[in-house]
Amino acid sequence: MNDLQGKRIVLGVTGGIAAYKACELARLIGKAGADVDVVMTEAATQFVAPLTFQALTGRPVQVSMWQTDRANGMAHIDLTRGADALLVAPATADFIAKLAHGFADDLLSSLCLARDCPLLIAPAMNRQMWINPATQRNVAQVRGDGVVILGPASGEQACGEVGEGRMLEAEALCQALIAFFQPKLLAGKRVLLTAGPTQEPLDPVRVLTNLSSGKMGYALARACAEAGASVTLVSGPVCLPTPAGVTRIDVVSALEMRDAVINALPADIFIAVAAVADYRPAAPAAHKIKKGAERLTLDLVANPDILAEVAALPDAPFCVGFAAESQQLAEYAEAKRRAKRLPLVVGNLVQDGLGGEANQITLFDAAGSHPLPPGDKLTLARAIVRHIAEMIHAHD
Ligand code: CTP
Repeated sequence: MNDLQGKRIVLGVTGGIAAYKACELARLIGKAGADVDVVMTEAATQFVAPLTFQALTGRPVQVSMWQTDRANGMAHIDLTRGADALLVAPATADFIAKLAHGFADDLLSSLCLARDCPLLIAPAMNRQMWINPATQRNVAQVRGDGVVILGPASGEQACGEVGEGRMLEAEALCQALIAFFQPKLLAGKRVLLTAGPTQEPLDPVRVLTNLSSGKMGYALARACAEAGASVTLVSGPVCLPTPAGVTRIDVVSALEMRDAVINALPADIFIAVAAVADYRPAAPAAHKIKKGAERLTLDLVANPDILAEVAALPDAPFCVGFAAESQQLAEYAEAKRRAKRLPLVVGNLVQDGLGGEANQITLFDAAGSHPLPPGDKLTLARAIVRHIAEMIHAHD
């Protein structure tokens, strides 16, 4: 996806071992459509050669203040003029200290001081350096100055210690950069979502379930977080990574999903994407059901309808339902919207089975039906978020 098409990003690399991850980051930002200008500190060149970044970005790499190849000799100012963002990854403890105090004794710190574009930094250091009061003071200072801090993550460190201070992975940083540029249409809103299938136990080794990859719900959770909402995702069993900034609650059965949703309220917006099993075995067997009989009849009881229950609450959030249909999409989707008294239903015509990357989607609200142009799930999710935001702001 070309989420950074037309953007120019200055990628600053300072002298930490996480500089090796910045190579992948430069590649990913370029792959997302941006032009990437890499600026390294002298210390960073001890870890990775400038040539590596030059080969990855196809553009010259700047290290020194004293290069004479610029006519006006003003690299420390020119490089961020017209840039959409300056991202420093990794940002060492030393570099953050310099930022906090406004030092400008090399090209990268001068660029930070002379910039007229947003600055994002990805701290990377040993865990003791990170929790040191001096570092924490400096981080608070630069955050207060309007710098966006990405991470750090927790985990195993290059020094062998385990704790907070690792740089976020390149993929997560690229996603954070993409999110940074998304309009904050849901700023200040609390969004609660369900996603994935539920599993209803038949016996200790078997379940009844629905075919659902969870991809659409996860894409929507990501799109809501990108739009500035605080997002809680109640998820059935899926194999998907949690989108950045999203609080995820794992559940298995419909009853667990229902309880998790009710406990996670209040919310401003509830988006029910999960393919909840409509029925569950009335009495799951305590032991594995043995084969033998020619026929086996299952006794099923209805599961609670989570969306209908939330929509009927006296202080119900703005509720969005999903209708996956194999035919007569408009009739069925509109019928579900009316039956559950929902302001919005996302209708999905399922022709080639579930779980693919792309979807064909039509939105149904009181004003009528709104087909969305075909696209991948994240693009569709962002379009759904725009529609929700428009409806909510019209209502407010
Ligand atoms: N839903 C829910 N709890 C359930 C069942 C469905 O929250 N127990 C939500 C789904 O997440 C989705 C919408 O309700 O947003 C789907 O509506 P529904 O009428 O239940 O659809 P189907 O189960 O597909 O109905 P049918 O089998 O009649 O097509």
